[in-house]
Amino acid sequence: MGNNMASSTISIQRPDDWHVHFRDGEMLTTVVPFTATRFARAIVMPNLDPPITTIRSAKAYRERILMALPKNSNFIPLMTCYLTDDADIDEIIEGYRTGVFSAVKFYPAGATTNSSYGVTELKNVFSAFERMQEVGMPLLVHGEVTDPEVDVFDREVVYIERVLKLIIDAFPELKIVMEHITTKDAVDFIRARSLEAPGRIGATITAHHLMINRTDIFRGGIRPHLYCLPIAKREGHRLALREAATSGQSPFFLGTDTAPHAKTIKESSCGCAGIFSAPTALEMYAQVFDEENALDKLEAFASINGPIFYGLDVNQSEIKLHRTARFCPETIETSNGEELHVFGGGKTLVWKVL
Ligand code: DOR
Ligand code: ZN
Repeated sequence: MGNNMASSTISIQRPDDWHVHFRDGEMLTTVVPFTATRFARAIVMPNLDPPITTIRSAKAYRERILMALPKNSNFIPLMTCYLTDDADIDEIIEGYRTGVFSAVKFYPAGATTNSSYGVTELKNVFSAFERMQEVGMPLLVHGEVTDPEVDVFDREVVYIERVLKLIIDAFPELKIVMEHITTKDAVDFIRARSLEAPGRIGATITAHHLMINRTDIFRGGIRPHLYCLPIAKREGHRLALREAATSGQSPFFLGTDTAPHAKTIKESSCGCAGIFSAPTALEMYAQVFDEENALDKLEAFASINGPIFYGLDVNQSEIKLHRTARFCPETIETSNGEELHVFGGGKTLVWKVL
């Protein structure tokens, strides 16, 4: 990073977003440009309904994303395959071999939005893990158990104990990303395991989990737009996530988990999980790194650790971020008139992407 740390403009290699939800249709058309103008590439989640499980559907979805790009954009969507109990493993491996799939996403059935097609029992997908391990195809896990007996705030920690350790022990060479980690336990676990086997295990961290804790969800009343899964945890966990992200250490990289839902669906008697952060997340990450006096580590977290984990080149172009107040509207409207609440919207942002 070629910056004078005292200056209020920094320049870093163009970042990538290793976890996004673009949805489809009008929503996709509206949200894609926010990601594409900031990031060079993004790992695109496959949890459409029905989910992306074939090479054909992934290619068609990628085309729809490309159609939504601003003119002259070089943005590259990296597609993922949704893992099901009866996954066609030959199709998955063929998709990886031919560059259509970059990874497999593993949702435990019932864990979150559109996860009903997900995996019901771990043993159903062991043969898939075996083949993925052979070819080096990354497994991206939604790290929460679905056992209704387990408290919603404990689901990540229990997942590490009951599921993740098991997968790692059974498939020591499998590349795994624990997506959107929310606890100190996950930070400690990922750090320890990646020391034992560098480059095999990583974790994405969202901007919102660096900014909010579980109390914020109830500040002055219930805040449906701060509800996501895994749900934000206690303050101590948020601080541990900030320490991990701003350490610049290789297993931790940027994944916004931007997850748009119409405002009307979020603000209901049973509001769904997901925070739409594409318009503000990069700015928020910069703010967090700035607050932690770690702007010199932003590039590692946002632009370097991810590509190295995935075995891809670091982006050649640069982007500039400037510390200057900018008001962000609370909502944006989709092309068919639905409102989307923006994370951090309705307030002044500290950083701006130039
Ligand atoms: O909050 C979430 N929203 N967590 C997820 O895992 C899925 C996502 C979505 O698709 O809305
Ligand atoms: Zn997600």
